[in-house]
Amino acid sequence: MNIVVSGSIAYDYLMRFPGRFREHLIEGKLDRISVSFLVETLVRERGGSGANIAYNLALLGERPILMGTAGSDFAEYKAWLDAHGVDTSAVRVIPDVFTASFFANIDTDSNQIGSFFTGAMAYARGYRLAEAVSVRPDLVVVSPNDPVAMAELVDECCQGGIPFVFDPSQQVIWLDADFLRHGAERCTLLIVNEYEWEMIAKKTGLTREQLVRAGKTLIVTHGSSGSHIYAGGEHYIIPVFPVARVADPTGIGDAYRAGLLKGIASGFGWELCGKIGAVAAAYALEHTGTQNHHYTLPEFVERFRTAFDDEGALDAWLG
Ligand SMILES: Nc1ncnc2c1ncn2[C@@H]1O[C@H](COP(=O)(O)OP(=O)(O)OP(=O)(O)O)[C@@H](O)[C@H]1O
Ligand SMILES: [Mg+2]
Repeated sequence: MNIVVSGSIAYDYLMRFPGRFREHLIEGKLDRISVSFLVETLVRERGGSGANIAYNLALLGERPILMGTAGSDFAEYKAWLDAHGVDTSAVRVIPDVFTASFFANIDTDSNQIGSFFTGAMAYARGYRLAEAVSVRPDLVVVSPNDPVAMAELVDECCQGGIPFVFDPSQQVIWLDADFLRHGAERCTLLIVNEYEWEMIAKKTGLTREQLVRAGKTLIVTHGSSGSHIYAGGEHYIIPVFPVARVADPTGIGDAYRAGLLKGIASGFGWELCGKIGAVAAAYALEHTGTQNHHYTLPEFVERFRTAFDDEGALDAWLG
């Protein structure tokens, strides 16, 4: 199955400040802020929704085509994605601009001061699917990206009759009601977390029943309570996969999506697709960062079977 995953590609620069921000912000003096925090650690993590989903799909043995824009500092990131089996030929590199970057400083109370620099992501608008890939995709994933680029891609999929997964994630906050409605009504599958679903329902007035009646598959993830899949008149309740430890919840949503997509590409039923998503999410939850976990397909299948039953279906992956 030819899956094109479009979405952001970013670096996360994460700093730890061994103190409390509030001790350095003086009440009454907040109109003139000039503070500098001496930080103890700085790590750079690979991130971005598009890249995260593609990375997890590659771990699961697929060869997803990542579509997006990155900057002059992308070479190292590209080498990493290539080495793990992601097809990066549709990543457009914008010279003289940095890859989208998130800078966050976290203090001992877990307070965070962050800034997101859109960088090369702002150049995603105008980059068409037809230019990015020469093959006709079987499925396109529209993940968080520059909002205009997301709207353009949805239109291109609609015009070309290409099925797409609508995955607006955290961009739900910035996307207007008309576009959210359009995306939800035209996609084959809408996937969001509980909070994002509430926000879409509130902004657009759409109900779950309306989407289901229109033949859409709706997937709502509920964090540690699992996920719900509404498809073909059925409602599947997918439990979480028990984790060994909780290290960092960032990127679990993207990992879940990759597991789900792998299930779809394998032609499996919804319940199994959801459970594959849950296991993929568990790996991500056990590691800090969004692309620091690793497994082979046989390891994944063995682990899956410690808590879930696939009735032998996953043997198809092991060849
Ligand atoms: N504590 C947990 N233990 C095991 N699995 C979990 C846990 N929390 C979440 N998951 C898995 O991850 C899936 C997605 O979680 P969640 O709904 O929090 O996504 P999200 O809000 O999009 O996350 P993020 O945007 O931070 O990546 C859940 O449906 C579940 O399968
Ligand atoms: Mg999410």
